[in-house]
Amino acid sequence: MIERIEEIEVEAVADVGAADSTAALEEARVRYLGRKGELTSILRGIAEIEPSRLGAVGAAANHTRKTIEALIDERLEALEAAELEASLVEDRIDVTLPGSPARAVGHLHPITRTRRLIEDVMIGLGYQVMEGPEIEHDFYNFTALNHPEDHPARMLQDTFYVDVSGPVEVEGEGPRDVLLRTHTSPMQVRAMEAEPPPIFMIVPGKTYRRDSDATHSPMFHQVEGLAVGEGITLADLKGTLLAMLREIFGPDRQIRMRPHFFPFTEPSVEFDVSCFRCDGTGNLPDGARCGLCKGIGWIELGGAGMVDPNVFGFVSESGYDPDSVTGFAFGFGIERIAMLRHGVGDLRLFFDNDVRLLEQFS
Ligand code: PHE
Repeated sequence: MIERIEEIEVEAVADVGAADSTAALEEARVRYLGRKGELTSILRGIAEIEPSRLGAVGAAANHTRKTIEALIDERLEALEAAELEASLVEDRIDVTLPGSPARAVGHLHPITRTRRLIEDVMIGLGYQVMEGPEIEHDFYNFTALNHPEDHPARMLQDTFYVDVSGPVEVEGEGPRDVLLRTHTSPMQVRAMEAEPPPIFMIVPGKTYRRDSDATHSPMFHQVEGLAVGEGITLADLKGTLLAMLREIFGPDRQIRMRPHFFPFTEPSVEFDVSCFRCDGTGNLPDGARCGLCKGIGWIELGGAGMVDPNVFGFVSESGYDPDSVTGFAFGFGIERIAMLRHGVGDLRLFFDNDVRLLEQFS
């Protein structure tokens, strides 16, 4: 019996040593120490052994069981450590690696980027950025901007009027009283209503006209500028436009102003910037006519002028006394600036949302 116990110990030492996983070790444990194991049955049957040998057999069996238990514990510790190490190596995630598949980072729309560029430049000149409603009252869009009753922009075919005769009756609003603003200029009046002079502000935003071709879209963006205070002159307007356009189109740009007419500015001008492709010469280095400015050397950008005293008349209660303050206003299209900067020939491309086009502006 004692011999058999010694044999079991030798076998167990070999098996435990050979177990190469915690699962294999568990099998060995069940085999040698489990309820059905040989050693267990020897210990269980010990009562039947004749008393003279009982002590020796019992001691041997207990000793062997303790030896095997200790061996298994030791082996278990080693195997668990090895398995943990292996799974750490295998499951290691490098969180600094890019996701798979790597995704391209998106970017802002070219119109948004152009708007932000203009805002940055004007903030640098001390202007504040304001926003206003796209659905506007006739009063702000036309009347307070000194548009006569029969001004062509007020015609149905030029402007999108909003039907307010719907289920909710708007008090005092007739069929031609609410419209999609045709320019950002209504914000001149709203801004002056809200703040006393001096005021220096720009208004970027969406505007709407019943126009649609390669250079006109029913929805487009404008930036309005307004500067009102004491002693502001047309020369300040020119200097401001020059500073702004040099930031956008390069330090060598010149500007020119041509007489024009707007109901809400007097005098009124249209302003041009010298062509940045041919450097204002109208011709390219190879002698060909410049396609960007069509050989003229100047690129038309927008409208401007000195705020008409009649407009101040609508906001005199806010401190805009036409006898003591003067100011200038300007407005231009953001798409036009973006088209010029990026060489895009058709304004409608900006609104098709074709990624093949938009991707080129990353
Ligand atoms: N609002 C005018 C337009 O859309 C532009 C403009 C703005 C002209 C400010 C003068 C002063 O054509």
